[in-house]
Amino acid sequence: MSAQRQETVRRLAAPDIAARKGGDPIVCLTAYTAPVAEILDDHCDLLLVGDSVGMVVHGLPNTVGVTMEMMILHGQAVMRGARRAMVVVDMPFGSYEGSAEAAYDNAARIMKETGAQAVKVESGPTVPDTIHYMVQRGIPVMGHVGLRPQAVLVDGGFKAKGRDEEGRARILAEARATADAGAFAVVVEGVAEGLARDITAAIAPPTIGIGASAGCDGQILVTDDMLGLFDWTPKFVRRFADLRGEIGRAGEQYAAEVKARTFPGEAETYFAKKS
Ligand code: KIV
Repeated sequence: MSAQRQETVRRLAAPDIAARKGGDPIVCLTAYTAPVAEILDDHCDLLLVGDSVGMVVHGLPNTVGVTMEMMILHGQAVMRGARRAMVVVDMPFGSYEGSAEAAYDNAARIMKETGAQAVKVESGPTVPDTIHYMVQRGIPVMGHVGLRPQAVLVDGGFKAKGRDEEGRARILAEARATADAGAFAVVVEGVAEGLARDITAAIAPPTIGIGASAGCDGQILVTDDMLGLFDWTPKFVRRFADLRGEIGRAGEQYAAEVKARTFPGEAETYFAKKS
């Protein structure tokens, strides 16, 4: 770690993010590892240890199989890398839906074992009561409305939401209930532009959009998507790098040099000390 990084820097927390409503856009990305968190820390207000880690890092087909242990392990890694950005850890499927008490216990465990500043839950129709219960007991909670990846098995796939009147009204109501329950910010995923703007205007906490247009108070993307690590990405992703190409080219070059015995060369070889 560089000398500069050892300086004490105040880490952003839920009230700092909440106070950014209507102000400068809030910059958020996902992170799952210490080195990536360290690199992104200078550029982001908030790093989310998303349960997308299950798909992105562990190769699961969706986020339903993600466990508390996975979230805690990756949360600890990100906390070691980030020093200024607020770190939020996703509560995995099955860790908060059963009861408010169980949600509180699991959220408290995540916060104690990772040191993260908040948790995120996907706020379907029943979850706002649980958010209220947790916030009242000292857990900062971020909500998540619109496309809810943990509900993919009942929703029938990763499709944009709120594109008809009934869907719009339901998601707007869920966002209002999430805000009223005390969430300090709300992720709005996979909804049409007009709905994102309406939610942003209707609720007091800032909205963080992903596939929800520029009509939000901030933006988030899955980092591995925006780095271009996958050959397919959803419409709303912009690739800011081509790491898939870079890694492939590096692997090809490495293989060629190993086969040609040009790697390792003298520069990469230890020699006995001259006596
Ligand atoms: O799990 C995740 O990465 C998320 C973002 C897509 C918001 O929830």
